[in-house]
Amino acid sequence: MMTDDGFFWFKKHRLSIPGVEGEHLLMHITDTHISAIDEDSTPEEKAECEKQEALWADFKEKFARGKLPFSQGNDEPYGEPQKISTVEAFEKQLALARELKPEVLLLSGDNLDHMHPAGERYLKKKLAEYGGRFLCVPGNHEDPACGELWAPGVRTLELEGFRIAAVDDSRRTVSDADLAALKALCAEGIPMIVLCHVPLSTRMCQEEMRRIMDYFYIDWETAGENGKAFISLCEECDAVRAVLCGHVHGYHEMEYAPGKLQVIGSQGMAGAVHLLTVE
Ligand SMILES: [Fe+2]
Repeated sequence: MMTDDGFFWFKKHRLSIPGVEGEHLLMHITDTHISAIDEDSTPEEKAECEKQEALWADFKEKFARGKLPFSQGNDEPYGEPQKISTVEAFEKQLALARELKPEVLLLSGDNLDHMHPAGERYLKKKLAEYGGRFLCVPGNHEDPACGELWAPGVRTLELEGFRIAAVDDSRRTVSDADLAALKALCAEGIPMIVLCHVPLSTRMCQEEMRRIMDYFYIDWETAGENGKAFISLCEECDAVRAVLCGHVHGYHEMEYAPGKLQVIGSQGMAGAVHLLTVE
């Protein structure tokens, strides 16, 4: 495995779903915060990318080392191997995906640091070259739509015996249309993994989530009506088996409802990879 240079670090889970045959590997990365420049970038776009790269060069280390008020408690791998550009980091992640050959590569938002034409061109090109199946959700740094990469609305990917549902909760709420679509999926009863950007703070995991700044989660008590309804669906619908998300730039795993796993992936731009085997 491509771990020799010390860039990657892994968290692994297994999820048992009755009726699923064999093993299905999912590679989950998040918060890659790509800033990309190409020959068609304008001077303003280049300047913005350079500014954001410099910001993340500093901030990703502060997140990893718990040096920010909202990252206290983080103590994640960070050294020379992580001091690479967001584009270099993303290319390493794709090379790893080519090596591991997951059934699906899941990108749980803040894929691009900000919407910029060269970034969109870059991401489309690289994911097309990757060639494997992938599913993206937008993060709070992104628009709800990005060409063929992601679009508004709940999008599903069907696997043998279960499905993945991509839900845009990047504004710490979910639209009326997306809630209705998720309810319809729940009614079908096919086991489902929800892929979203912002984590859930539920009755069961609120205490743990509240150690993080409230900007980083949707809370069952303080969210708006749709945020609360989204949480209730993920808690109460038997079909929803796990929630995979990001946004926090620190790794967390927890039971968010009885028997249901929430994995908050850490920053992919600093080498974090979550591997989920569904069996
Ligand atoms: Fe982020």
